[in-house]
Amino acid sequence: MTLYSRITGTGSYLPPRRVSNDELAQELAGRGVETSNEWIVERTGIHARHFAAEGVTSSDLALEACRHALEAAGRSAAEVDLIIVATSTPDMVFPSSAAILQHKLGIAGCPAFDVQAVCSGFVYALTVADAMVRTGSAKCALVVGAEVFSRILDFNDRTTCVLFGDGAGAVVLEASDTPGILASDLHADGAHVGILCVPGHVSGGEVLGTPLLHMDGQAVFKLAVRVLEEAARATLAKAGKTEADIDWLIPHQANIRIMQGTAKKLKLAPEKLVVTVHEHGNTSAASIPLALDAAVRGGQVRTGDTVMLEGVGGGFTWGAVLLNL
Ligand code: UT7
Repeated sequence: MTLYSRITGTGSYLPPRRVSNDELAQELAGRGVETSNEWIVERTGIHARHFAAEGVTSSDLALEACRHALEAAGRSAAEVDLIIVATSTPDMVFPSSAAILQHKLGIAGCPAFDVQAVCSGFVYALTVADAMVRTGSAKCALVVGAEVFSRILDFNDRTTCVLFGDGAGAVVLEASDTPGILASDLHADGAHVGILCVPGHVSGGEVLGTPLLHMDGQAVFKLAVRVLEEAARATLAKAGKTEADIDWLIPHQANIRIMQGTAKKLKLAPEKLVVTVHEHGNTSAASIPLALDAAVRGGQVRTGDTVMLEGVGGGFTWGAVLLNL
């Protein structure tokens, strides 16, 4: 009997257009919006982000990430029996980006659905997929985070538009006799909906309310630092592990100060923190699988390592997954 799920392959994809802080600052200056490389680096650790070309959707980025993950796992798309896509920037209102991705992968029939938990989306999706694999509903799942956040940015708002980027990351999660996913811990508190949201909605053929991202950065910052520590500790307790068992911490890549603060609270050496925010910016649900894949392909994270993934974002949502790679 299969008791566990395990990641057997990772993949990611960044759209080719890399925009440095200086390039972005120059573009924004043309709109009368003032920012600088120095401010962005000092406050966030971000040096650059990638923006998708016009017409490129989340499922397009997801497709490339999935191809790389399947190749790494030695699986073909035909073997996939579950697709979960975490995204807040879906291709359409409906159907799901997962269903669109399924068709682009050239397969049909298996369940495919989106998970909406904003920047916590990937840890939510991985937890759902783990449960489905462990109960025998799936044997070979694609779990994806994919975003085109550039589409919902207000480029007249310097407090948010310099922070985010586009990209996708994916893992193949398979049934296993040995433990991969060890424990997870998910939370939400809708009382904080207003501090990070895109309030617009479709009604009667029109978009009502602004369809652009709004964030109270300081409120998000304070909550994030607190809940990331709590989620990590709760997940370790569920798995019967301690901070000393963590080989790698891969938190949501939003701000280097939040990430380093979390590592410090968990008494982890700075070298155990996987950082891609400098090159990717904040890619919301894609940030964790993008960072995981970069760390695997870069030779940092290896098979057998114990890895803590942590997400936090709009909702307010947060959560963690502890796994053996
Ligand atoms: O993905 C979901 C999770 N999201 C996050 O985790 C984001 C959490 N929040 C943050 O990362 C930080 O709060 C920010 C990076 C968004 C902002 O950093 P901060 O240190 O909290 O800066 P602040 O909001 O206190 O702003 C400081 C100053 C302000 O000027 P005054 O009022 O002191 O004169 C801002 O107007 O920096 C100004 N400012 C900027 N200056 C140049 C804000 N954005 C910019 C900018 N360029 N892009």
